[in-house]
Amino acid sequence: MIKAYSRFAEIYDRIGGDEFSLNFLPRLLQIIAKYGAQTRRVLDLACGTGSLAIMLAREGLKVTGLDLSPYMLERARNKAQAEPDLAVTFIEGDMRSFTLAEPVELITCLFDAMNYNLADEDMTATFRSCARALVPGGLFVFDLNSINSLSQFWGDDVFAEDLGDVAYIWESSYDPVTCCSALKAIFFVRKGEFYERFTEMHVERAYPISQVRTWLTEAGFEVLEVITPHGKPAGEADNRHVYVARKRPCS
Ligand SMILES: C[S@@+](CC[C@H](N)C(=O)[O-])C[C@H]1O[C@@H](n2cnc3c(N)ncnc32)[C@H](O)[C@@H]1O
Repeated sequence: MIKAYSRFAEIYDRIGGDEFSLNFLPRLLQIIAKYGAQTRRVLDLACGTGSLAIMLAREGLKVTGLDLSPYMLERARNKAQAEPDLAVTFIEGDMRSFTLAEPVELITCLFDAMNYNLADEDMTATFRSCARALVPGGLFVFDLNSINSLSQFWGDDVFAEDLGDVAYIWESSYDPVTCCSALKAIFFVRKGEFYERFTEMHVERAYPISQVRTWLTEAGFEVLEVITPHGKPAGEADNRHVYVARKRPCS
């Protein structure tokens, strides 16, 4: 068993890992137009392989991508090298304890990345780090898999897909007491005539909307919207909650 987001990095984009963020881009741009017209500098927190950071840089924004995994960051930097004129840089860091050299007007954190915060203190520390890194009035946009989503889609289940050069088996189990799902991901990646097999363990925790709202408020944010990725008001029955929060001017 290897650490989450190590070998997975080399096939993350190939199996569609960055699709959610890329599909969400038009809505994110709408959110920026509605609440963040002053946005020039962006931090994409838990940026993964950098696809969203690169797209935002193509929109003319100055973007920093931050991630815990050096393997995901290596993919991100390789992709950005093809477009040396883009204002995008990638740094290694932990969302719970990072600091930035200069503040930003927008922080994004997409596709379940926040669900990797397994303890209450991980989540509150992340919110405090984000508040510190934003200018007063700055926007914070992130999504979370809901309890409904983890219990249904990461519940006691097995999912397998064969894409030819890559195949994978996901075995998941959900604990209703901790609201955590553990996903054992077994990958097979073709190397010449053979397939290499490796296994990563991914654990996510889901949080009720009311709890997340409270923590955001305590960290100095005003919650502007909690929506589905399609822009409708989100409730506990929805699978993914997108939070749009603004750092209070006096925080
Ligand atoms: C599901 S991926 C999402 C990546 C990217 N945001 C996207 O939309 O494709 C989750 C990412 O969160 C990162 N991550 C998990 N815990 C982290 C932490 N404490 N600090 C920074 N990054 C973290 C992982 O390394 C991984 O790249």
